[in-house]
Amino acid sequence: MNPRKLKENIWAVGTIDWGRRLFDDLIPLPEGTSYNAFLLKGSEKTALIDGVDPAVEHVLIDNLRSLGVETLDYIVSNHAEQDHSGAIPAVLEAWPESMVVTNPRCAGMLTDHLHIPEDRFILKGDEETLSLGGWTLQFFLAPFVHWPETQFTWLEEEKILFTGDFLGSHQATSDLFVRDVASTWLGAKRYYAEIMMPYRKKFPKYLDRIDTLAPEIIATTHGPIYDEPAFILDAYRDWSSDEVKNDVVVAYVSMHDTTATMANHLINALIDRGMNVKVHNLTGVDIGELAIDLVDAATIVWASPIVGVGPHPNVAYVAFLANILKPKAKFAAIIGSYGWGGKLVEQLLGLQKNLKVEVLEPVMVKGFPRQEDFAALDGLADTIAEKHRGEGLL
Ligand code: FEO
Repeated sequence: MNPRKLKENIWAVGTIDWGRRLFDDLIPLPEGTSYNAFLLKGSEKTALIDGVDPAVEHVLIDNLRSLGVETLDYIVSNHAEQDHSGAIPAVLEAWPESMVVTNPRCAGMLTDHLHIPEDRFILKGDEETLSLGGWTLQFFLAPFVHWPETQFTWLEEEKILFTGDFLGSHQATSDLFVRDVASTWLGAKRYYAEIMMPYRKKFPKYLDRIDTLAPEIIATTHGPIYDEPAFILDAYRDWSSDEVKNDVVVAYVSMHDTTATMANHLINALIDRGMNVKVHNLTGVDIGELAIDLVDAATIVWASPIVGVGPHPNVAYVAFLANILKPKAKFAAIIGSYGWGGKLVEQLLGLQKNLKVEVLEPVMVKGFPRQEDFAALDGLADTIAEKHRGEGLL
């Protein structure tokens, strides 16, 4: 990707990864991603804000050279993860006068991961500043979006906030700025669900701080840039709040159609009682889509047959994943089927101890469900409806 001009003397110099389909060998990227980096030419100093993935560091370096960067004074690192920092050693080598500007914790992590020498750092604490001549950068610590060293960089004179991963979206698009709001909203929700959700309790404070800055542009390290940032700030307020929606996520696997029959009965019963149901067959599931639905849901239902003595491994996997993502659901239930016995409920509950949920009475069926089993599923639907009513959702 060639450099693209944001404003006078400010360029996007990162790269678009059109073909990447998996991040961290875990997270599906149906729309690819980008690694955004920005070049700021002040009247006295030139600064690069963040880098790119090491696999495409040559693109970043070519972009800086094509913009005539002979002296690079500063490389601001807002986040030490390698998809942004991995190119920093190559940039330091190409511009040996350059210094990495970041907070002490990020500097330590850059040294750990990339072996950047300590004498290549300029350390800045919360709210400290750096002059580029005509422009002043100010740094705000914002730990755990989504690593402990993360920070924002504020360019007051141009009202641009560089937030690192925060508010970003895994999207490869030729739009420099957000032009398809619906698409970016969904990409950002996927990104939030998979990356940011475990740390959501910290975000209202960061959003308050951003509100006081009133940025006109928010430039993140993934996805298109926000030149009308209100919608993503509002979305993050909603997603990171404790407010749940009248949604039930039903995630199921079935081997001989028994658990699927139970799940379908429950799904219909939930719909009949006025709830929105988000259904995921965990055979070949896109975990990003499941994670998106976990952002808002008031209730999660795991539906699994017993394999051996415990849950089907696909259900165990997503329950464990949910335990990491820590969605704000308030209720959880387990339904399932078995041939002769096992400890499905105990094992699944053991996998999701981080979830602050009230666990509802499970419905476990021996063999194919009978009339009384369908009645028990109706009873579970009644209970979920009652819980949602108690939350003011129905
Ligand atoms: Fe995009 Fe946390 O790195």
